[in-house]
Amino acid sequence: MKTGKARIRKAVITAAGWGTRFLPMTKSQPKEMLPLVDRPLIHYAVEETVASEIEDIIIVTAQGKHSIENYFDRSFELEHLLEQRGDTKLLEQVRFISSMANICYIRQREQLGLGHAVLTTKQVVGQEPFALLLPDDIFGSQVPVLKQLMEVYEEYQGSVLAVEAMRSEDLPRYGIIKAQSLEKGVYQITDLVEKPAKGEAPSNLGIVGRYILTPEVFDMLERTPPGKEGEIQLTDALKLLLEHQAVYACRYDGVRYDAGSPLGWLQATVELALRHPVLGAEFTEYLKRRR
Ligand code: UTP
Repeated sequence: MKTGKARIRKAVITAAGWGTRFLPMTKSQPKEMLPLVDRPLIHYAVEETVASEIEDIIIVTAQGKHSIENYFDRSFELEHLLEQRGDTKLLEQVRFISSMANICYIRQREQLGLGHAVLTTKQVVGQEPFALLLPDDIFGSQVPVLKQLMEVYEEYQGSVLAVEAMRSEDLPRYGIIKAQSLEKGVYQITDLVEKPAKGEAPSNLGIVGRYILTPEVFDMLERTPPGKEGEIQLTDALKLLLEHQAVYACRYDGVRYDAGSPLGWLQATVELALRHPVLGAEFTEYLKRRR
């Protein structure tokens, strides 16, 4: 199977999960709408997509996630209020959010796992390679991480997974690759192990929440039986994909915060607040005073 050279035009952002690591907070509020300083988590994923020159975004949502749609929609009442107050700066910001990208929404009717969430977008994505972003992974990097993957895709014309070197205690929580190095930071994957037992990881390179996927992944997802807890795992489908075409990994340049867990979210909040153009200086002073 070989995919012809195609530009990445579409991005999928999966946002339908239960967010159990963040309970009880996520009982009535989508994890993707947790604030990171002054904007919700999912805003950062959309921003990264747009910065990577992809404007068509498909967000997978589920019951109880309306606030995501409202956030990226226009709010005429709010705009009117800001206009009347003459607050042009805030007005521009609010309007910009609803014009950042073309967003469409797909409902995942049952939360049967990340692989299943991706599969729900099959018809909308069609027969072309696409980007996939898991919005709880927040990155700080000079070049957007998605763009770094797109550059590898351009060169090698196959699926590309973002990976990072992990501490050995973290390996059992991630999909870990076995791979051959092709050039600095770029690998060809030979095997994948989802959540390896302690001491059994094939490398220290774990898969994180950014991907470029060829459309053949949908066929593999359709053939992937539910794994543990009845969920269709994306890693299982990628393992199948490996049997048909080359799959690559890109060790991205940057830092990542797992904002889908309370500790990672706190770390992301502090780091982003320290770098915030308006709040950064005062927040830094505050932290110094506290010590
Ligand atoms: P996670 O593994 O973080 O699952 O999913 P989760 O349910 O959101 O959170 P926890 O682990 O229970 O705390 C990775 C991504 O896949 C999406 C999530 O929204 C998240 O962006 N996802 C997961 C779906 O869209 N549908 C699913 O059925 C499962």
